[in-house]
Amino acid sequence: MCGIVAYIGKNEAYPIVIKGLKRLEYRGYDSSGVAINQNGALQVYKRVGKVSNLEDFAANQDRSGHAAIGHTRWATHGEPSDVNSHPHTSMDGKIALIHNGIIENYDVLKQELVKNGYVFKSATDTEVVVHLVDYIQKKENVWFGEALRLALNHVVGAYAIVAMSSDYPNRLVAARKSSPLVVGIGSDGAYYCASDATPIVEYTKKVVYLNDEEVAVIDLEKGLKLYDIADQQKTPFFQELELELEALEKGGYEHFMLKEIHEQPRSIHDCFRGRLNSEEAWVALGGIREYEQKMISANRLIIVACGTSWHAGLVGEYLIEDLARINVEVEYASEFRYRNPILNENDVVIAISQSGETADTLAALELAKSKGATILGICNVVGSSIARITDAGSYTHAGPEIGVASTKAFTAQVTVLTLMALSLAHKKGTISESKFRQLLAELEAIPEKVKRVLQTDAYIEKIAAIYKDSPNALYLGRGSSFPVALEGALKLKEISYIHAEGYPAAEMKHGPIALIDENMPIIVIATQGNSYEKVVSNIQEVKARKGKVIAIVTEGDEQVRNMADHVIEIPEVDEFLVPLLATIPLQLLSYHIAVMRGCNVDQPRNLAKSVTVE
Ligand code: AGP
Repeated sequence: MCGIVAYIGKNEAYPIVIKGLKRLEYRGYDSSGVAINQNGALQVYKRVGKVSNLEDFAANQDRSGHAAIGHTRWATHGEPSDVNSHPHTSMDGKIALIHNGIIENYDVLKQELVKNGYVFKSATDTEVVVHLVDYIQKKENVWFGEALRLALNHVVGAYAIVAMSSDYPNRLVAARKSSPLVVGIGSDGAYYCASDATPIVEYTKKVVYLNDEEVAVIDLEKGLKLYDIADQQKTPFFQELELELEALEKGGYEHFMLKEIHEQPRSIHDCFRGRLNSEEAWVALGGIREYEQKMISANRLIIVACGTSWHAGLVGEYLIEDLARINVEVEYASEFRYRNPILNENDVVIAISQSGETADTLAALELAKSKGATILGICNVVGSSIARITDAGSYTHAGPEIGVASTKAFTAQVTVLTLMALSLAHKKGTISESKFRQLLAELEAIPEKVKRVLQTDAYIEKIAAIYKDSPNALYLGRGSSFPVALEGALKLKEISYIHAEGYPAAEMKHGPIALIDENMPIIVIATQGNSYEKVVSNIQEVKARKGKVIAIVTEGDEQVRNMADHVIEIPEVDEFLVPLLATIPLQLLSYHIAVMRGCNVDQPRNLAKSVTVE
C-alpha cells in the first residue's frame, strides 16, 4: 500500500500535500516525494525515508505553486531509494505521476518503451506508466489526460494514479482500479485527491469515491468531470464524509490491529497473487526459484526467527517436512546465534521477519553467512536489512502492519511457507499431481474462507466478555495447530497481559493439567484431521477437571460441540491449511479481551513493533 495526495486550488499546494502525506504514512513510509506545478515547469523533490526526510530536503528549495502531487511509498517493485520514490516524470520532465498499486504487465510495456527510445531511471513498475503516457501523447497528438486514459487501456493490474503536466497548470487527472482513490471538492473551488479521506477531511467533507476504471479530470476553471477508460462520461456521486480523522486512518476500525485482522482476506490474496495457479498446476516463488535445488539437496533447512515469526516457522517445519520430506529445524534466532551451532555450506538458513530489522534474526543470519551457509529471507518490508543481507528471499506483501501485535504478517508468512513447501514437494516429486492441484485450489479459496471466519467476530466478542478477567489461559493444539496454539497464547498475553501458554495438546498430561480448574479457560484447536480423536480425548480430560473449553472446530462438528463450553467453527479445509484459518479466531479473541480490559491494543506496554536491539 502507498499513500497518494494531491491538491489544486488558490492556496499554496506544498504544505497541504506534505501534511496529507504525514496522515497517510500508516500506508507506507519507506520513501516519499512531491511534484509542484510552478507555471511552466514541474519541481520534483523526493527522498528515501519518512516524510520528515522529504521536508528537511525541500526546506531550502522553491516550494511555491498552487498544484502539487505527493506520494509516500510502500515498496513492491524496486528497493526504497530516492530514484525509486514517486513522483515519476517523463523524460522531458513535463509530466509527473504518482501511483498506488501494482502494474502486473510492466515488464512487457517496459520492453516496448525501451525499443521506442525510452530510458528508465528507476526499478519501479510505475515509471512505465508515465513514459507510456508521454509516448501516447506524442503519437496520438492528444493532451496528457487523454493520453493517460488511453494508456490505462493497456495496463493490467491495480492503480490509483494522479498525474499533472507543466503544460496544463490548472489541471490534475486521477484514475482508479482496485486501489482506492477519493476526490475532495473544496467550497473555495479547490480540489483534493488522496488514497483515502484522511488528508482531505479537515478541508472538506464533500467527496467522490472513484470506482474501478474511472478517470477524473479536474480543471480549476471547468470543474470536475468523470469518465470511464472507454471515454464514456459519468455522473459523479458526491458523498458527505461522516467519519472523523482519527477513525479514517484506521479505515473505520477502532484499532489498527482490528483493521489488519480484517485485511487478511486481501493480504493473503496479495501474498499468493501471481505465485500460484491451480488450473495450470504451478507455484512460482520467483525470489528463491534458483535456490530450490539447493534447498532440496541441503543437509537441512534451518529457520531462524523471533516471536510470531518463529511460530510461522514452526508451521513451515510441519508443512515442508511432511510434503517435501526435507529436514527442517526451527530455532529462536536469539539462541541460535550464541550456541555455536554446527553450520556449513550444505545448510540453508531461512530468516522469517515482518520488519526485516529484528536484531537477533539479523545476527543469526550474519553468523550463518560467516559459516558459508546459504541465507534466505521471508520479509514484509521491502529493502529491509534482512532482505538486503540474504542471498534471496520472498516478500509477504501484507502491506504495512502498524499494530504491534502481528496478525496479517503471520498469515502471510504461513502463506509463503505453504507455497514454499508445495513448490519444493512438486519439484522433488514427493507430492502427487492430484494432491498438488487440490492444495493449490484450496489455497486459492482461503481468502473467501477467512472472510467467513471473520463473520464469527460478534460471537467471539461474547466469549471474550466471559473470560476477560481470567488470570491465566492455556492453548492446545496438535500437529501444525500446535504453533497456532503458541501464536494464540502470544497474542493474548502481549495485548491483554493475561498469562497464557501454548502447548502440544498431548503435553498437557505432563504438567499443565495440574493448572486446570473451573477458572481456567482452555482454548483447543480441534479441527478435523489425523489427530482429531486424540484432541477429543484431551478435551475430555480437561472437562473431567472442570476446565472451561473454547474449541476451534470444523464447520458441522457435533462431537466437540457436545463437550466444549464454546465452539467456534471454521470452514472445512485440508489439514495443511488449517493454520491459516484457525489463527483468525484466536486473533479476534485476544483483541476483544484486550479492549474489554482497557489495554492499549495497538501499542501494548513494554513492546515495540520491531525489536532492533538485543
Ligand atoms: C508478535 O505479535 C510480536 N510483535 C513479536 O513477537 C514479533 O513477532 C517479533 O518481535 C519478531 O518481529 P519480526 O517478525 O519483525 O522479526
